[in-house]
Amino acid sequence: MKVNTADIVISAASQKQYPKQPIPEIALAGRSNVGKSSFINKMIQRKNLARTSSKPGKTQTLNFYIINDQFHFVDVPGYGYAKVSKKERAKWGKMMEEYFAEREQLRATALIIDVRHKPTQDDVTMYDYLKHFGLPVMVIATKLDKIKKGQRHKQLKMIREVLEIEEEDDLIPFSSETGEGKDVAWRTMLSHLKL
Ligand code: GTP
Ligand code: MG
Repeated sequence: MKVNTADIVISAASQKQYPKQPIPEIALAGRSNVGKSSFINKMIQRKNLARTSSKPGKTQTLNFYIINDQFHFVDVPGYGYAKVSKKERAKWGKMMEEYFAEREQLRATALIIDVRHKPTQDDVTMYDYLKHFGLPVMVIATKLDKIKKGQRHKQLKMIREVLEIEEEDDLIPFSSETGEGKDVAWRTMLSHLKL
């Protein structure tokens, strides 16, 4: 996939601010600090278009990016960060529901998981939540550069089992550091976007 243009459209705090342009969309979900923004940046070859940080919980809005004027990537705020108040958690839940339950042009979600660790209960809940909307979920096992080659098979098998990934969904090993998995991720995304 050749990315010619990539720009931020809006950081949306509410539904009213979502872009109205009816082009297909892929959302990125995952634990806080897992590497969602880094994934976007690697896919589109921009160093820091999607803002990354070592401080978790940075992305608090739905950030819409437009790629080649053809589709959106939507960077969704992460979950599972302990230092979040009850009120903020409730706000996050409402944001998720407003987006995932109602966004007609959403074609698939990339659920980003850390390949080094067993998926958390929050990860399992998120996968199930996304599946109940009947859309494809691509599970991206990122930070592949942080484990030894010999561990890959075992980690991927464990992730598949813990999340109970459905037959129709892909599990894609990936690294935002090395770019490994990028071609497979693009192929899968393009098949969902039907461009
Ligand atoms: P929030 O927006 O806070 O939820 O975080 P995020 O999920 O967008 O994570 P982000 O992309 O900001 O990455 C968090 C940290 O992990 C950063 O320090 C990244 O450099 C690092 N990181 C992300 N992906 C990889 C990867 O594939 N390999 C390595 N080694 N580090 C990564
Ligand atoms: Mg982020």
